[in-house]
Amino acid sequence: MYALSYRSTFSKGYGEKDLESIREVAGSYNSQNKLTGCLFFHNNSFVQIIEGKKRSVLRLFVKISNDPRHHDVIFLSSETHSLRYFDGWSMGFYSPLKGSSDVSKKEQFLRNMLSFHDLANKSTSTLRCFWFAWRSMLREGFPISEDDL
Ligand SMILES: Cc1cc2nc3c(=O)[nH]c(=O)nc-3n(C[C@H](O)[C@H](O)[C@H](O)COP(=O)(O)O)c2cc1C
Repeated sequence: MYALSYRSTFSKGYGEKDLESIREVAGSYNSQNKLTGCLFFHNNSFVQIIEGKKRSVLRLFVKISNDPRHHDVIFLSSETHSLRYFDGWSMGFYSPLKGSSDVSKKEQFLRNMLSFHDLANKSTSTLRCFWFAWRSMLREGFPISEDDL
């Protein structure tokens, strides 16, 4: 199993519809290619972790890197390990802004984040980088300093 994480910035001129279409494409392409992971969006920034066969992950990452809907794609970490951490998630998509008027959704979102974060404490460096970037986005928004990673 190979895992890769990166962060990036949403490009100007794109909006909610584009996020929706990314979700749809990711859901079907990733399940066809046995790719799993999680994409987090907040404050116009993305952080994503993708896991699967190395060749499939890298092929997708090349496509993602060339996608004009985001820019400043910064590779965070990658590694090979034995476990699939996001089994059953073709691409979990999370944004605290979605349904932000709904307090219970917000709470559910935060609960999910906390349980995922607990998982990260005992896991791999790619996951730790992913969660660290995520946590920084939630706390302060981007950009985070390279020194933090
Ligand atoms: C932040 C971000 C994350 C993305 N994540 C995925 C993904 O996990 N899986 C996927 O198939 N496409 C994802 N995409 C879309 C790809 O960049 C690309 O549009 C899609 O794979 C279709 O490429 P194609 O038209 O060359 O086949 C993502 C795009 C962005 C901007």
